[in-house]
Amino acid sequence: MAKNTNDEQFKNVISHAKEYGFVFQSSEIYDGLSAVYDYGQLGAELKNNIKTYWWKAMVQMHENIVGIDSAIFMHPKVWKASGHVDGFNDPMIDNKDSKKRYRADQLLEDKIARYEKDGKTDKAAKLQADMDDALKAENLQLLKTLIEENDIACPVSGTKNWTEVRQFNLMFSTQFGAMAEGSEEVYLRPETAQGIFVNFLNVQKSGRMKIPFGIAQIGKAFRNEVIARQFIMRMREFEQMEMQFFVRPGEDQKWFAYWKEARLKWHKALGTPAEKYRYHDHVKLAHYANAATDIEFEFPFGFKEVEGIHSRTDFDLSQHQEYSGKKMQYFDNDLNEEGKPYGNYIPYVIETSIGLDRMFLLTLINAFEEEDLSTEDKQDSRTLLRLHPCLAPVKVAIFPLTKKDGLPEKAREIMNSLKLDFNCIYEEKDAIGKRYRRQDAIGTPFCLTIDHQTLEDDTVTIRHRDTMEQQRIEIKDLFDIIGNKVSWKNLLR
Ligand code: GAP
Repeated sequence: MAKNTNDEQFKNVISHAKEYGFVFQSSEIYDGLSAVYDYGQLGAELKNNIKTYWWKAMVQMHENIVGIDSAIFMHPKVWKASGHVDGFNDPMIDNKDSKKRYRADQLLEDKIARYEKDGKTDKAAKLQADMDDALKAENLQLLKTLIEENDIACPVSGTKNWTEVRQFNLMFSTQFGAMAEGSEEVYLRPETAQGIFVNFLNVQKSGRMKIPFGIAQIGKAFRNEVIARQFIMRMREFEQMEMQFFVRPGEDQKWFAYWKEARLKWHKALGTPAEKYRYHDHVKLAHYANAATDIEFEFPFGFKEVEGIHSRTDFDLSQHQEYSGKKMQYFDNDLNEEGKPYGNYIPYVIETSIGLDRMFLLTLINAFEEEDLSTEDKQDSRTLLRLHPCLAPVKVAIFPLTKKDGLPEKAREIMNSLKLDFNCIYEEKDAIGKRYRRQDAIGTPFCLTIDHQTLEDDTVTIRHRDTMEQQRIEIKDLFDIIGNKVSWKNLLR
């Protein structure tokens, strides 16, 4: 698809998300808060369904994975031990004329992309290599030199009047405790993973977990991103769905391969075309990792990371053992049964980490369609969300054909029999065709119309979102027909 079409499609998705109550800018009446968003009435439902899909796949389907819900505030030493206080930085630079702030590496990435577009592949490769070296060595002066040597100007002022490059820590901090004196600086967690690491022994002992086992968690994370863009792609407050899988040292590569495959399968089960996904294996690894890959999705603005799978060795648990003075070791009885000596060891960890908001955006983009329904006689189209029925915010819309003759009462009776199991919407305003279109636009897989025949023979018309096909069915069969389509068994086996 051409770039403009992609831009347009992305803009349409953003305005659709607002118009139908999926996503709103936070504090919009005060002109918004940059890179912070609220989920509206349908967004909250869709988000919950994505969470449920993940939780069922990770926790319910695996006997050896359990879920927790740890606090956002953690002891400040956690972030010292994890390396976030000293190392969770982005290099930033300000333009003195526009007063705009940029990530230095992002400016260089944009320049590399421009070199490539102009066919200057040698220059692109050299700049990429120099930038990688500078980032790895945390050489801020070299980053500045590269910006100057490559003639990079501020996109707003057009000038090259830059400040020095400085490290900018991405963690938000606040004061803990009500006393002016003695209150402590704490951080809003920048990832949920550390809540899992510090509870490793609590869960292992209380749950009598045997290695290999996993701990999963869904929760908010906060990062003071230098630049936040592309709607809910890069936010300052977001949600992560993370799982740490604790394994024997030496078995980490086997489990890394397992989770790499399992996680892509989870994505593809939703029916996303396979070519929209790819792995991006990391060549340059963080100091604590011995393997890492991203699962990338082709957004309208290119392939971008949705999920990371990282083999983190015993780094985090060892760090917490050192900083807390508490043993983080596991006593492996099974080793003895296998004829090996009993062993105390710090487990290795494979992490799967997916951004819920990115998954939400991906889901909306994938589902959004402007379908041309024109015939020879008439121009027509409809906007629809082809969401998987399991993820659809509303499963069933219930329409009495008219507002009289006892039809609303019958419709309410049917709604009452379904609403505990399926999220339902009742609508009696406007012509049926218009009501169908409104449901198409929010992705409702089924619409039921209650008419005069319903009062005579207990049948209704069911209309399917994707095909627009309509069938006459008996009310007593409704539960099974809808239930089969929205069952999680369609996604998880
Ligand atoms: N515990 C590992 C970890 O946090 P990460 O690659 O920094 O790894 C994992 O983040 C996932 O969280 C990313 O793949 C992305 O989907 C999501 N994510 C990270 N920063 C984000 C942000 N500012 N806004 C939205 N999602 C974000």
